[in-house]
Amino acid sequence: MKFFIDTANLDQIKEAQDLGILNGVTTNPSLMAKEGITGKANIINHYKTICDIVEGDVSAEVIATDMEGMIREGEELAALHDQIVIKLPMIRDGIKACSYFSKKGVKTNVTLVFSPGQAILAAKAGATYVSPFIGRLDDVSTDGLNLIAEIRSIYDNYNFKTQILAASIRHTMHIIDCAKIGADVMTGPLNSIMGLLKHPLTDIGLEKFLADYAKGNQ
Ligand code: G3P
Repeated sequence: MKFFIDTANLDQIKEAQDLGILNGVTTNPSLMAKEGITGKANIINHYKTICDIVEGDVSAEVIATDMEGMIREGEELAALHDQIVIKLPMIRDGIKACSYFSKKGVKTNVTLVFSPGQAILAAKAGATYVSPFIGRLDDVSTDGLNLIAEIRSIYDNYNFKTQILAASIRHTMHIIDCAKIGADVMTGPLNSIMGLLKHPLTDIGLEKFLADYAKGNQ
């Protein structure tokens, strides 16, 4: 499973990159605003900076909601760096723009996906990634992980090449459960990734190893 970090925070992106396990970054307009990155020029510079930090795919979201606007914006974003993936909303014009970019060989990420039907359309449109939001489904008493399992099974039935990018990950168990189901990618906040490191027996064990070493080397 590929690991993406879901943030526009440069320190957190660097920290994940330094672990040596990072395969990419996803952002969205809310995450940009959270870091105080506003205005087209600043947003574009921020994408370039992120691409300089990481080696993998960096999703950059369009703001337009009509096909022509999405294509215009998407082409501008794609020209910034070869790591940029055009993030398109799961709406009618988003699917049209996705088909357009697929035919041109430009990578896409169809976002705001909440149902298996939407995931089928994204795959038919040739999306590189489909982003089901599992945390937001959990928020409304719907099993987000079940959506990942349903999409996995549908994509496997037809050998769809679109990669399932589990998004709106909220905690470490989401990552582990997505790995069990077979999501191709997960994108989550840094703390959900760092949670994978933790086990009290590791800390207790290490403390004892170091104490025993110190006893024998006094
Ligand atoms: O990757 C999608 C993500 O940014 C949404 O996460 O926590 O706002 O539902 P959240």
